[in-house]
Amino acid sequence: MKIISVVGARPNFMKIAPFIRAIKTCNKNAKDPSFYFTQSSSLHHILVHTGQHYDDNMSRAFFEALDIPEADINLGIGSGSHAEQVGMTMVAFEKVLQQEKPDWVVVVGDVNATCACSITAKKEGVRLAHIEAGLRSKDMTMPEEINRLVTDRLSDLLFTPDRLSDENLRNEGVPERKIKFVGNIMIDTLEAQRKKAEKIKIEDIIEKNSIHGLIAGKLLTGVQDYSLLTLHRPSNVDDPAILTEIVNFLIHELTKDLMLLWTVHPRTQKQLKKFGLWEQVMSAEKLIPLKPLGYHELLRLNMDAAMVLTDSGGLQEECCVLGTPCLTLRWNTERPVTLQEHGGASVLVGNDVGLIRKTSREMIQRGRIPCRPELWDGKTADRIVAELVEAGM
Ligand code: UD1
Repeated sequence: MKIISVVGARPNFMKIAPFIRAIKTCNKNAKDPSFYFTQSSSLHHILVHTGQHYDDNMSRAFFEALDIPEADINLGIGSGSHAEQVGMTMVAFEKVLQQEKPDWVVVVGDVNATCACSITAKKEGVRLAHIEAGLRSKDMTMPEEINRLVTDRLSDLLFTPDRLSDENLRNEGVPERKIKFVGNIMIDTLEAQRKKAEKIKIEDIIEKNSIHGLIAGKLLTGVQDYSLLTLHRPSNVDDPAILTEIVNFLIHELTKDLMLLWTVHPRTQKQLKKFGLWEQVMSAEKLIPLKPLGYHELLRLNMDAAMVLTDSGGLQEECCVLGTPCLTLRWNTERPVTLQEHGGASVLVGNDVGLIRKTSREMIQRGRIPCRPELWDGKTADRIVAELVEAGM
């Protein structure tokens, strides 16, 4: 059986790594006569990278750290408007499908690569499986929500991370036989990598990644107690008024209590410069701007952070399992299972500075409360591969 899986942007890499490992295990077992169930299931896997993320620290570093084999095919799409990224990916991916004629295309997450390759696969008559299906923010201003809706509507197998996602799909009329509740594949990576992350020294991460260069005096004073920030959504970084208010709060209020480590996404850095905020960020006391971090580095910082402030989806999930108090800088989330009301560690605060101020105090008081939703057990990829083998060619 021939499977093409697709990655494009940073959050895809931690989802594909366990999938590829599970395929290898399945192939190994297929050769072992004691695993007679899977004997006929030798899987030929091809990895396609669309090239949406191309900087070394947004892509190559993750392949190396997570032991992902080099992509068999790189479409080299790069940056562009949404229509450009999706359109160019479709044109290039169509050729790949026509040449390779796979039995399945497997897509992950909700980025432009996910949506583009899903449409192309279905138009070429190839069966489609979606890992991380059923998430819904119900916010149509998010490009990812459009990508999720399109991908799930077209998918033949929908691998969901939690029961709430199953319910979303049922409510949209997806037939029960297509919905496969398998758990959260991101947590496979977290569990596989947490020991390695634990060994990294926080000081080394800062020293290696600080945008300032070495800032020993500044960092060694308060590094015991810090909060961690990531920010990249258009809703937070594209409007100068919103971004200015957030930056002012960080510099003039949040860092009064706690050191702030900010791992700055390329699009955020671009916007900060465009709105004349970059110098302020760079010169703020007790704020350390960091380059985009590697997987283990960010996980390590998350393990010891007093609080995470983020608009990323994946970080909400990691905070949930690690128990790190998480302020989600959005008004909605496609991952409600990570919210406090479902036992998780995260609270929605949008970009309302008053709410961020009040909630951050409460969250720091609350401390760490780890939570593990059903089937977030590190074995999701094996369940996915078993389902694909059962579905067959
Ligand atoms: C994309 C995903 C988003 C995900 C995020 C994680 C979509 C619609 N969005 O958003 O869901 O949370 O990745 O990072 O697919 N850039 C670089 N180097 C790179 C990549 C991007 O400098 O390697 C800069 C470029 O200026 C580019 C901008 O970042 O225009 C935005 O990149 P893009 O891939 O369009 O979207 P993200 O904001 O990264």
